[in-house]
Amino acid sequence: LVSAISVAMSSVAFAESLTVGFSQVGSESGWRAAETSVAKTEAQKRGITLKIADGQQKQENQIKAVRSFIAQGVDAIFIAPVVQTGWEPVLQEAKSAKIPVFLLDRAIKVKDDSLYLAVVTADNVLEGQLIGDWLVKTVGDKPCNVVELQGTVGASVAIDRKKGFADAIAKAHNIKIIRSQSGDFTRSKGKEVMESFIKAENNGKNICMVFAHNDDMAIGAIQAIKEAGLKPGKDILTGSIDGVPDIYKAMLAGEANANVELTPNMAGPAFDALAKYKKDGTVPTKIIKTQSKLFLPADAQTELDKKSGMGY
Ligand code: AHR
Repeated sequence: LVSAISVAMSSVAFAESLTVGFSQVGSESGWRAAETSVAKTEAQKRGITLKIADGQQKQENQIKAVRSFIAQGVDAIFIAPVVQTGWEPVLQEAKSAKIPVFLLDRAIKVKDDSLYLAVVTADNVLEGQLIGDWLVKTVGDKPCNVVELQGTVGASVAIDRKKGFADAIAKAHNIKIIRSQSGDFTRSKGKEVMESFIKAENNGKNICMVFAHNDDMAIGAIQAIKEAGLKPGKDILTGSIDGVPDIYKAMLAGEANANVELTPNMAGPAFDALAKYKKDGTVPTKIIKTQSKLFLPADAQTELDKKSGMGY
């Protein structure tokens, strides 16, 4: 018992001495705000000092923040990379300074993957696939024209979700993506782009479904559909990713149809892996995967109830 207590105490004391710099994408969505808030709570639980820099959706700001964390000599750097390319030089600098880097929720493309220790992420291709499979099942043989609201151009999650959805509907010749544009993961851009899709497609009458790469864009789209005099969830089906409270509320109101939840707790698993790494050099698995699950309106109340205390 005494040794168990002293191990527990030494790991708490150890975690207390850690300082982590987190270069966050920004605050473009409800999910993103929750991820930031959960990161703070998870750091506090472990006695870790967390310094957060808001990149305001710009890679140059994120790179500056990472350089500043390196100069401050933090124990580790977390990055939620806004886009997937262009990270080699700054990661090389972190590596030379012997500062381990964890990627949160989005992946990057680098030739040398020793430039980061691990990435905590969902299977984003699977997320798109789950929505696509649901649509195939839901519409059966009926023709279905889909409009797609993509996430930030160049973001790994947008690329992967697009691919997963396209793969899933490829086998159904009655389902076609007729328009696809970025709404930058924001509610306002999602609404704006959906308005233009509706105008271009016979006041929305040619549209059967909107696939939004995140919930905030879906909520914006729902607003646009209502303003066009159509019923979201009925005249135009919706499918999106994140699981923010507002999408479950929309489901309960009959205005949203399918959702894949993405946990906002990306920092917790990274802190745990970091603590082990610092303690005895345990190298984490390269991809620390979070779960992806499809939820439908029948699950909405239960899922909404679970969201309290999750940073939303
Ligand atoms: O990288 C995760 C995505 O980024 C979330 O789905 C979206 O809401 C956020 O902006």
